[in-house]
Amino acid sequence: EPTASVIDGKSIAEEIRSTIAREVRRMKKFIGKVPGLAVILVGERRDSQTYVRNKILACEEAGIKSIVSEFPEDCTEDEVLSALSNYNEDASIHGILVQLPLPQHLDEGKILDAMSLEKDVDGFHPLNMGNLAMRGGEPLFIPCTPKGCIELLIRLGVEIVGKNAVVIGRSNIVGLPTSLLLQRHHATVSIVHALTENPEQITSEADIVVAAAGVPNLVRGSWIKPGAVVLDVGTCPVEDPSCEYGYRLMGDVCYEEAVRLASAITPVPGGVGPMTIAMLLSNTLDSAKRANN
Ligand code: GUN
Repeated sequence: EPTASVIDGKSIAEEIRSTIAREVRRMKKFIGKVPGLAVILVGERRDSQTYVRNKILACEEAGIKSIVSEFPEDCTEDEVLSALSNYNEDASIHGILVQLPLPQHLDEGKILDAMSLEKDVDGFHPLNMGNLAMRGGEPLFIPCTPKGCIELLIRLGVEIVGKNAVVIGRSNIVGLPTSLLLQRHHATVSIVHALTENPEQITSEADIVVAAAGVPNLVRGSWIKPGAVVLDVGTCPVEDPSCEYGYRLMGDVCYEEAVRLASAITPVPGGVGPMTIAMLLSNTLDSAKRANN
């Protein structure tokens, strides 16, 4: 018998998006400005294509102008850098996003470094990441998935200050910035990764678990402290012809087991994913507000 409440990220995200849409309408009406987002997508990964499609649809619904530049898997670094440079200079664009991961032959660090700091709505530019890491640092943008996780915790009234939090995974996109953001909110943060000796023991002491390893069913019921809040950020694509796009996403948490122990848990899909998109819109709107054009 399940004890956890299921965290409805989808409906929380919808609420946030409708607030953003209202603000966008006011901005257009009173100062004639429309926020603009440019997305750069390289290669043929189906999951990346779905994410980008969903981001664009969410922009449309919120009244945010969006544009996508798509490049083939074998494009050159210069082609991507040149598109980026155009968007950096384009006054109608307030946010730029390079969908990750990029194909192996492209230097991700070099490309993220070339992005205008003021338009880095994903918060992946090294200076934004560095400021996120530093005490007193003021990042212009906080990465969308980590921000979405914290926003969920805050809206659910989950106490973060002084609590034990575990982040499973140390990726640049989720694990690392989530651990930094939880520290900013005064949690005691442990980071568990592939080489951690006893991940189960460390995780089982956590009041807040953020699972972002990309390994389906990694986190078993025995890893969960009774009453913990569990955010499952896993998005491993697995073939499933019965699903809309021919695949579905698998979380990192063994849901059927964890739901019996946690006090609250996010489902996959419909948990953290929709929050990522809501935070992207929020960052784009913030950027448009800050810009003087
Ligand atoms: N790939 C997986 N998640 C994200 C994200 O939030 N932003 C970008 N740019 N790429 C991603």
